[in-house]
Amino acid sequence: MEGLKGLLRHVPAYVLLQRVVGADRLRYRCIDEIRPGDSVLDVGCGPAYYFPRLPQPVTYHGFDTDAPYIDWAQNRFGGENAGFHCGIFDEDAARSLPPIDVVLLLGLLHHLSDEESTQLLDLAASVLSPGGRVISVDTCFEPTQGRISRWMAENDRGEYVREPAEFEKLALQSFGEVEGEVLSDVTHVPGSYWLMRMTTPNGLTAD
Ligand SMILES: C[S@@+](CC[C@H](N)C(=O)[O-])C[C@H]1O[C@@H](n2cnc3c(N)ncnc32)[C@H](O)[C@@H]1O
Repeated sequence: MEGLKGLLRHVPAYVLLQRVVGADRLRYRCIDEIRPGDSVLDVGCGPAYYFPRLPQPVTYHGFDTDAPYIDWAQNRFGGENAGFHCGIFDEDAARSLPPIDVVLLLGLLHHLSDEESTQLLDLAASVLSPGGRVISVDTCFEPTQGRISRWMAENDRGEYVREPAEFEKLALQSFGEVEGEVLSDVTHVPGSYWLMRMTTPNGLTAD
């Protein structure tokens, strides 16, 4: 597994594996929630190989801590309305942004501890425009998954693969409305994924 994890730092290998496994199809499900004209923040964007699937026009801000991923994305997709930034998405970064309609956390929360997740979700809530939403998708454990799906979850690069209820509990600390669905028939290789939509930052009331 360590060899595979090392290989995934090589951007073309990462993108190829995403397509072979069908993880790209999970990303497209999330991107379907974006509308033309939206401002989009993508935290943990990686190489953002799914960028060409975004509806246009959008303004896009991608953040990732991995410089090769960010360089790859900036070279291909960077432009007037799309910027890729290397670093943790922190309070300074949040302050630099306009109000955001959609925050994407695609395959990120299962790499973060509960404390890191809570901090990030609070920060994501703080940048949302009125009516804005946060969309996350992560490998999960769930009771109906088969042996291959469970093996995939157990051997994921992320150290914090959780059950849906655990992801929801984290989200409810920052958002008044949280709903989600287990996707288990989207990828080519058996796998279970929790897609979660978060709206109404705590402290605000629903319309
Ligand atoms: C599984 S990858 C997902 C990349 C991309 N969103 C995708 O769906 O292909 C998770 C990414 O999160 C990045 N990451 C991990 N912790 C981070 C943090 N605290 N802030 C920003 N990015 C982070 C990693 O460098 C990695 O590229």
